[in-house]
Parts: sequence; structure tokens; C-alpha cells
Amino acid sequence: MIKLEKPTKPLSGHVFVPGDKSISHRSIMFGALSEGTTEITGFLKGADCLSTIECFKQLGILIEHTQRPLNGVPTITVHGKGIHGLSAPSSTLYTGNSGTTTRLLAGILAAQPFDSMLAGDESISKRPMKRIMKPLKQMGADIVSVGGNDCTPLFIKGGKKLMGISYHSPVASAQVKSCILLAGLYSDSDTVVYEPALSRNHTEIMLRAFGADVHNEVDVRGSAAAILHPGMPLRGTKINVPGDISSAAYFIAAALMVPGSDIVIHNVGINKTRAGILSVLTQMGADIELENVNESIEPRADLHVRYSELHGNENGRFEVSGKVIPTMIDEIPILAVVASTANCTTIIKDAQELKVKESNRIAAICNNLKAMGVDVEPTEDGMIINGGKGLVGADIECEKDHRIAMSFAIAALAAEGETRILDDKCVGISYPTFFKDLHSLIY
Ligand code: S3P
Repeated sequence: MIKLEKPTKPLSGHVFVPGDKSISHRSIMFGALSEGTTEITGFLKGADCLSTIECFKQLGILIEHTQRPLNGVPTITVHGKGIHGLSAPSSTLYTGNSGTTTRLLAGILAAQPFDSMLAGDESISKRPMKRIMKPLKQMGADIVSVGGNDCTPLFIKGGKKLMGISYHSPVASAQVKSCILLAGLYSDSDTVVYEPALSRNHTEIMLRAFGADVHNEVDVRGSAAAILHPGMPLRGTKINVPGDISSAAYFIAAALMVPGSDIVIHNVGINKTRAGILSVLTQMGADIELENVNESIEPRADLHVRYSELHGNENGRFEVSGKVIPTMIDEIPILAVVASTANCTTIIKDAQELKVKESNRIAAICNNLKAMGVDVEPTEDGMIINGGKGLVGADIECEKDHRIAMSFAIAALAAEGETRILDDKCVGISYPTFFKDLHSLIY
């Protein structure tokens, strides 16, 4: 348990957040499926990404934690074996709390010559897998939910020949899209995944850097397609993972909420399919400057954030909905916290996906905000927050959800009295050094 309260002075200074979780997972997976070695710097050593490493070790891939000889930079080296180089695991592949590991790995395993079993922790065992089982079955895979409830454990029969499909995903989900594209690498014809709005496109960008023939098309209405032509070999490469914008979002929020704050968060990934939180906060009046923008394969920048009074439009309302939602789906908990201190009513819509994350985040956000005295109402696909009336310290039930724990640690900085984050350990899923880094900005 961790206790927090309003800091006695503004946040100031510089911070580096750990590597991007989505990119870290993919760098291991794509490295394993490539010929030759992949060297990864900036890798996130959070529990989720370590689950991915363990699974690929079980599939016969050598993965080493080393340091660059000259500068001592921690590096992960993946000794890839090509798309047909994985070997049968001797036991169940354990994916822990990680939806990305579970869903992306399922796409790879569906095309292997051997059988496999995927299982995770209590939270993963409740998350929907039908969304990947349905398209994988259409491709010719044999995948069953052992408990018959469309959740893990999943048994995947090997030796199936897959075919390319055109799939219209009802949800804008990068995990669904990536699962299908990875199975598509093994298929006999093109695979196209359509989604209602473009979800994070790290798989497309990174697979291309490894040599695959894959690209995105987005039409005028914003509907998106990812198109993969199979057959190109993947080749090991060097990956420098940018800082995770989802982790940076907590400190952005903290600086915006604590009067007088002025901080710089260095080397943060600003891929447009992830950066919705920056545009939404800027529209609400946030002072966030992008400095040292670097347009590498995955673009990145330093974020200079200064305290700002946030507001809605002239009617005192602010709506967050539609195509921006998939570009900030993991930042809705922290947005809700910031919105509770803004001088407006914030309406969050089209975010029903929050119900099937590591916890039911609509419920977890609203219950904890209510405990802090905020006027908030959950809706079917989001929530309505009447902000600006002050927060009081409370006991926070995290539901073992890392993003709830970190969001409410930041809420504590704007609350009167003490807040206790019960079960703070779950931050290790995506940000093991979160409390240390937060303290470095406060003291
Ligand atoms: C992720 C995709 C998102 C996100 C998750 C990571 C990824 O999930 O919430 O934290 O790495 O592809 P969905 O694809 O289910 O929206």
C-alpha cells in the first residue's frame, strides 16, 4: 500500500519514462520470427513484456540480456529462427496479465506444426478471446477455449494450413488486427483487416521494418485497412524503443494539475495512432510543447508540460468520442482524473472497450472518482464527469489494474487529505519504477 497527498511545491525537473509496452512486445515477437539477430534498446522490463520473453524462450528462442560493449546501454538480443523456426513448448505458455502476449501469440501459434496451450492470470482468464478465435477459425485455424467460455485457456491445434482472409473487425483493436496479420504471415494469400478506425499501427510499421510487405490505408471517413502480402522473409534488425506515451500521460496529468509545475518528459513515442491524449488535452487548454521531434520509424519527442487550467467549450462542456478513442484507449483513466479537476463537464463516449481491459475500467474509474468526492456517472460506453468541484483523499481499489493504480496516484496529488493506493504492486505490469520517478518530480 502507498500513501500520497498534495505536494507542497510544484512538480519540476526532467524524467525519462520506460520503453513503450506495445513496441517492446512486438520487438521480441518479430525478432523471434526473423532470420538473424535483433538488438533491442529501451526495452520495457515490465511484467507483461517479460511474459512475452518467457513464452518465446519456451518456443526455443534464445533471448539474452546484455550491455552494449562501448556505452554499457542495456540491450536485449533475440536470436531469431525465421517464421518456421519455433519449436514445440513442453508445457502451457503462461501469458500472465498480458492481453497483447495472449492475442498476438495466438495468431502465431495458429500456424505452427505443433499443438500449444495458452493461459494467463485471473484477469486474462476473463477477457474476451472470441474476437481473435473467430477470424483465426475463418483462416483455417483450430483454436478452442478449454472452458467453453471464449476465454483462456486456449488450446491451439498444430498442423493447420492457413488462408488469407478479408476481415471486418467490429472493434478498432490493435491486438485483434495484429493477431490476424501475424497468422497472415503464414497464409497462402493476402490478408486484409478492416477496422472502424485506425488502431495503433506498431505491428504494420515494425513488421515492415523487419522486411514484411504490409501497409495501412485510411479512407476519407477514417475507416482503416491493414493489408499484408505474405512471402517476404523477416530479417533481424535494431530497435530503439521510445518511451511509452501511456506512462508519460501520468506525469503530463500531474504537471497540468499541480499549480506552478513545469516538467520535461524525454524521448516519448508520439505515433499518431497513440497520441490522442496530447490532442485532447491541448484542446482543453493544456500547455504541452513538443521539443526535439525525431521522425524515426516510430516518431518521438520531448514533452514540455506546464501547469494549465483546463476548460471545455463556451457551454462548459467537452466531449471525447469517435475516432480519437482508439488512439488514447489506455489513457482514458488518467484523462478522467484530469477532467475531474477541469472547469467543465467532460463526456466520454464510444469507449465501451474499457469494460474488457485489465479490469472493467468504466466501473473502476467511476467508483474511485466517487470515493474521492467527484460528481461522475458511468454510462454504457463511457462516463460523464462534472469537474472542478475538488477531490478528497480516499482508499483506492485498483482491481489489480496497473493503469487504475497509477491514475489514482496522480489524482491524490490534487486531493485534500491522504489517499491510499491499496495494492500498488500492480504498477509493475507496465511501469515498475513509477513511484520512484513520480517522487523524483515532486521532491
Ligand atoms: C495494445 C492494444 C490495446 C491496448 C493494450 C495494448 C497492443 O488493446 O489497450 O494495452 O499492444 O496492441 P486493444 O487492441 O484490445 O484495444
